[in-house]
Amino acid sequence: MARQLNLILVGPPGAGKGTQAERLQSDFGLAYIATGEMLRANVKAQTELGMAAKQHMDAGGLVPDDLILAMTAERLEEDDTRDGFILDGFPRNLAQAGALERQLQQQGRRITAVLLIEVPDEEIVKRIAGRRVCVKNGHNYHVDYDPPKLPDVCDQDGSRLIQRDDDKPEVVQRRLLVYHEQTAPLISYYEDRGLLRRVDGMRAPGEVHDHIRALIATLLLEDSL
Ligand code: AP5
Repeated sequence: MARQLNLILVGPPGAGKGTQAERLQSDFGLAYIATGEMLRANVKAQTELGMAAKQHMDAGGLVPDDLILAMTAERLEEDDTRDGFILDGFPRNLAQAGALERQLQQQGRRITAVLLIEVPDEEIVKRIAGRRVCVKNGHNYHVDYDPPKLPDVCDQDGSRLIQRDDDKPEVVQRRLLVYHEQTAPLISYYEDRGLLRRVDGMRAPGEVHDHIRALIATLLLEDSL
């Protein structure tokens, strides 16, 4: 099998995972798997999964593992993941990380790196308050840090920009709590496996992107030696 680039993006809500994933996807042509986006599409389409997930998402909690694992296991079997993938928002706890490891092992694949985008909680609150997403494809903007060319219109597909339901301040506090309790243990999990790479998420989006590209270039170089 040709060398795959299999990346995981980890970081608190609003750290910039989606912003960076969008750029990396076009740099490297990787399959982009964002569990939050997949769930929001299911909520919009009112599928059984969407209806089961909505209450957890609106409350800022995690959607139960069995639902998430069924959804991601199927997605990771798809053809477009053959040259590699970017996982955004998955895994989100140790049980999900273990299940992912087992699936990849069965497929004869491995994770190339886990990119941790670090941003303190105070900044998260500001970022999420200003975030706007497009209704058509979920493209991300920030009213101050990354504004669209025209107010409330997506630069990429011309659709309307809105605020996400789970971006209300009280829900954001809960999402941060859940991150620290359930997702942050993944940091030492992947550090122990030698996969973790830390990225300063406080820099401007373009600088964060340059840093990640440089990290990936180093990883690819190390791998080819
Ligand atoms: P999900 O959609 O994954 O949300 P999240 O992890 O909370 O992450 P966000 O999408 O909020 O933020 P982001 O890091 O992508 O930041 P962004 O690039 O938008 O999950 C939503 C919900 O689904 C969960 O709460 C849960 O209920 C459920 N769920 C999903 N996956 C699950 C799983 N595996 N298991 C169980 N449940 C699951 O950036 C944020 C803002 O900041 C934007 O406005 C952006 O323009 C701006 N910005 C970005 N980078 C910068 C920068 N460097 N400087 C300044 N501004 C910046």
